[in-house]
Amino acid sequence: MGHTLMGRLRAGLSLFGVAAAVAITRHGFRAAGGHGAPGGILVRDAGAYSVFSRRLLGPFYEHIADDVAKAAPEKARILEAGCGPGHLSIQLARRHGLDVTGVDLDPAMIDQAQANATRSHGSDESRPSFEVGDVAHLAFPDESFDLVISTLSMHHWADPTAGLSEVRRVLRPGGRALIWDFRPGIWLLHRHIPDPVNHAQGSRLQMVEATPWRWPWKLSLTQRVELARPEEPPRHTETQTGKTPSNKGEAHG
Ligand SMILES: C[S@@+](CC[C@H](N)C(=O)[O-])C[C@H]1O[C@@H](n2cnc3c(N)ncnc32)[C@H](O)[C@@H]1O
Repeated sequence: MGHTLMGRLRAGLSLFGVAAAVAITRHGFRAAGGHGAPGGILVRDAGAYSVFSRRLLGPFYEHIADDVAKAAPEKARILEAGCGPGHLSIQLARRHGLDVTGVDLDPAMIDQAQANATRSHGSDESRPSFEVGDVAHLAFPDESFDLVISTLSMHHWADPTAGLSEVRRVLRPGGRALIWDFRPGIWLLHRHIPDPVNHAQGSRLQMVEATPWRWPWKLSLTQRVELARPEEPPRHTETQTGKTPSNKGEAHG
């Protein structure tokens, strides 16, 4: 009798759990649905996406933050492209003490990111900074970052090749880009998923590897793509005579 009651209670609770998960996921996907803007696709409801992504994508960001922290050189300057409400940047700064700047095309997302950072860091100096910007037209000087990261954003970019070219420009030579996005061939709410391998070729970033990434749950609908800006050979400085230093000792006449 007691067993039956407990069994029913457990079954009822499981059903409730499944129904709640389905409701949150449906709400989240509705919030994540997008509309086009110059530069890319914006999420319809930045506030709802912020709540949905914190609840549903928390373990995804945690796992990625650990991976980024391992890949980041000491005192690395990191740019997150398409940071949305900033959950990953905030984790990187708070849990790993990293220096992170997040950029997003959508001013409403940057408002959410600022509010989320204030909630978790207050006015602490280690908090990440956030600004509005298009990955294809970044307002940072050449070679200003050691690492560029991006999650679930590239399939929103209007021109992924232009975006990756800008990523290359702001990376220092030898710097890396780590991009997590859905695997090519998957259709989402708004568009076909771009293949970073093709876009990397047009951007002059070098493909290091593309590996399936386990998410969601045990599925691997996403992948981790690692790209590198190759080291450049040292530039020869011109002497006053227009000859390079290697010519200095040569006999003339
Ligand atoms: C699905 S959200 C992902 C947000 C966050 N990275 C995450 O993992 O939750 C995609 C984000 O890409 C941003 N986005 C779209 N096009 C962009 C562009 N050209 N430059 C920068 N951000 C862009 C959108 O505004 C949106 O916040």
